[in-house]
Amino acid sequence: MPLPLSVPRVLLQHRFKSKPSANILLFILFSLKKNFFSQASKTIDFHFHLQTSYADKGEKHERGRFVRFHHVTFWVGNAKQAAMFYCDKMGFEPLAYKGLETGSREVVSHVIKQDKILFVFESALNPGNEEMGEHLVKHGDGVKDVAFQVEDMDFLVKTAKERGAVVVKEPWIEQDSHGKVKYAVIQTYGDLTHTLIEYVGPYKGLFLPGYKEPLTKDCLLPTLPPGLLHFIDHIVGNQPDDAMVPVSDWYQKCLLFHRFWSIDDKQIHTQYSSLRSIVVTNYEETIKMPINEPAPGKKKSQIQEYCDYNGGPGVQHIALNTSDIIQAELKILVDFDDKGYLLQIFTKPMQDRPTLFLEVIQRHNHFGFGAGNFKSLFEAIEKDQDARGNLTVY
Ligand SMILES: [Fe+2]
Repeated sequence: MPLPLSVPRVLLQHRFKSKPSANILLFILFSLKKNFFSQASKTIDFHFHLQTSYADKGEKHERGRFVRFHHVTFWVGNAKQAAMFYCDKMGFEPLAYKGLETGSREVVSHVIKQDKILFVFESALNPGNEEMGEHLVKHGDGVKDVAFQVEDMDFLVKTAKERGAVVVKEPWIEQDSHGKVKYAVIQTYGDLTHTLIEYVGPYKGLFLPGYKEPLTKDCLLPTLPPGLLHFIDHIVGNQPDDAMVPVSDWYQKCLLFHRFWSIDDKQIHTQYSSLRSIVVTNYEETIKMPINEPAPGKKKSQIQEYCDYNGGPGVQHIALNTSDIIQAELKILVDFDDKGYLLQIFTKPMQDRPTLFLEVIQRHNHFGFGAGNFKSLFEAIEKDQDARGNLTVY
């Protein structure tokens, strides 16, 4: 059966029981079943000592903390179909719904779940929704908000505000018969926002106040094996040239995140283009946010291609952690140091614009971000970029 879509093979093998397609963005550096480390040594010269890790966690909030990624909200043209696509192709299941039938008159929300990963797909219900309409015209389908669960939100918001963060919505509480939840919204890079979520006592509902059961069941889903993805590992933001440092500084200054890891363009490049990246994280290092920017090369960087099609900065990829990446036949990227290794596979863009894609990652005592794989990944993306007519000279 031909594979209609570009999704991780490890999942496709389960979900379609078929051979992988050539259109899936996978590479073989080597097979784990065959002498992992001896083959790995062949690639050591281009991916050893590529990254900088930081030990200093910097300032800690006097009170409160960022706990974890809570959910990711996508603004899309057709939330029902987008949610179904992620369920059918990536192993998610419908969890909750908000729409006309539940009293939500302006925006429809389909919530899907896979273990601890929660994605919310939203669309405008009525003609003339300028905010969502303009977002869609500019960015296409993509990520609108990355929500964090926090403790002592009032203190975190006050601190962020004092340090220059734009608070889109001051803290407010929503409740239903299952409990109470406090929210606030902070502006980050581009049109992306961070919703902060604090549970005011235990919340016993499906997702958050106001959400009900999904309206219908997808009869295809029970016929597919369960997904293998467990939690959000990191969420990467692409920035235009020279915007990486100000954005990572914003996280450090306003949210008291700290630098965790970085690479520069001397370290990561192909013959055509390169990138720089700084990973920022919260004090407990449970939320990782790599921030990328393009670096000059002979041809247009893929980060610049993203910015061109996204209409500016935005979420480039969401990495989903699995403990089972090698259950299926192997076609994965591997990066390692003397302590451990990580395994990665990447999808092609999840929508028609060459913007957001997903990563599936498995870690074994290795907390980098695949610097050693960037070159292979970049070269593969450049091939696609060329096919799109976008691997152009600056
Ligand atoms: Fe990644």
